[in-house]
Amino acid sequence: MEYLYILCFLASCYATLNNKKFPDDFMFGTATSSYQIEGAWNEDGKGENIWDRLLHTNPNFTVNGDNGDITCNSYHKYKEDVALVKDLNVTHYRFSLAWARLLPNGHVDQINDAGVQYYKNLIRELRANNIEPLVTIYHWDLPQGLQDEGGWTSSDIVDRYADYARLCFRLFGGDVRYWMTFNEPKEFCWQGYGEGTNAPGIKAAGTGEYLCAHHVLKAHATAWHIYDEEFRSTQNGQVGIVLDTNWYEPATNSTEDKIASDTKLQFIFGWYANPIFRGDYPEVMRNNIQRRSLAQGLTKSRLPEFTPEEIEYVKGTADFLGLNTYSSMLVQPRKYTDVSAMGNEYDSEVEEWYDDSWPKGASPWLVVTPWGIQKLLRWIKNEYNNPRIIITENGYSDYDGTLDDVDRINYILQYLSGIRDAMDEDGVNVFGYTVWTLIDNLEWVFGFTNKFGLYHVDFNSPNRTRTAKKSVGVYQNIIRTRCLVN
Ligand code: NOJ
Repeated sequence: MEYLYILCFLASCYATLNNKKFPDDFMFGTATSSYQIEGAWNEDGKGENIWDRLLHTNPNFTVNGDNGDITCNSYHKYKEDVALVKDLNVTHYRFSLAWARLLPNGHVDQINDAGVQYYKNLIRELRANNIEPLVTIYHWDLPQGLQDEGGWTSSDIVDRYADYARLCFRLFGGDVRYWMTFNEPKEFCWQGYGEGTNAPGIKAAGTGEYLCAHHVLKAHATAWHIYDEEFRSTQNGQVGIVLDTNWYEPATNSTEDKIASDTKLQFIFGWYANPIFRGDYPEVMRNNIQRRSLAQGLTKSRLPEFTPEEIEYVKGTADFLGLNTYSSMLVQPRKYTDVSAMGNEYDSEVEEWYDDSWPKGASPWLVVTPWGIQKLLRWIKNEYNNPRIIITENGYSDYDGTLDDVDRINYILQYLSGIRDAMDEDGVNVFGYTVWTLIDNLEWVFGFTNKFGLYHVDFNSPNRTRTAKKSVGVYQNIIRTRCLVN
């Protein structure tokens, strides 16, 4: 009852909340990832991954030196986590497989049975509770052994990933309908191999992120084809990819700023979506990077090229699109274009910033701009011929993990309202929504200081006690009524 009052109160604050019901088959869920919640970093035969290595050798990488050694201890508490998911009454739970828990050195010649059993148990527990598992095959935790062989900038990784994905389909595919090959490749390629702010911490801006992305796209396509040819007829599932982007709002109504918005979206999102949904990298990327590379004295573009056969092979390899989105930014053409500056953000020749007046979350990149999500969804629909979309992440971070998380509640309601508007007014084909995240967890370089959970986790208690925040009740109610305004 209390939650009904909260909803009524919020509805009166946000008179603009869409009041139409979500369709009966609309999927509501929540998400996590292996390194952020599992802990048990070296238990039961798990191998070392690039985050284990980075944070053990370089504790200053994260706020307070936090790492994923124990984090939420979900490896040992998965049943409790599933009970929380169940309690939310969601349709689905999105989680990721830790490659090094299944294959300690990354190669399929050495399988860790305990790791296989762990994920079988988790999936069984979800199914027993009538929760659809959405499985991310790769959420940033590459086995260190494969990084030692060159990681995502070595072309060998395509076959290693394909072997791993085939194994996942074979081991778990009987009980999994939704697969996501990669989570946010833009982030792990750019931060991991471009600016060096995520594992494995390599700084090679302007080349590393493009090489990484090229291999990720080939690996994704190979996995999709493997599923299509070897598993689809018996397992009947779908394979997609999770891409992330902000909405990029033109700073003014000028044509230049509108073009800057489109260019930025192409460099951030089209980089991955265009090869998969249309074929090849976006034209503006190919042109800009070619021009800038030659101006830098290179003999060819820093953006790798697909052969015509590869373009065809990658095209059409997504049964659905997973979209992670949280924020918006303003854009205009870059005023001073320094041709020697290296990196994807310079190659776009677009300048981006947050408006100071926008409300912020704890994460420096999180601004509350619910008006952006409808524009973004409309842009994606028009650009990629109306793909089936599931929002695979959206949510709000605070510092204190307060149980009275009114800001998170407002955020979720307003973004869901924008999504419903996009479905109603623009006919965008959205079939689900996933809150990031189930429980407060290790927010990468921000350690345990940015809290996104629907449930609070007490990181000072050995038991890692979980406690529902107010948003749990509100989300339960949205799911029960399929409506934002009661
Ligand atoms: C991006 C990532 O997929 C996830 O791991 C991260 O914690 C959230 N979004 C919030 O930053």
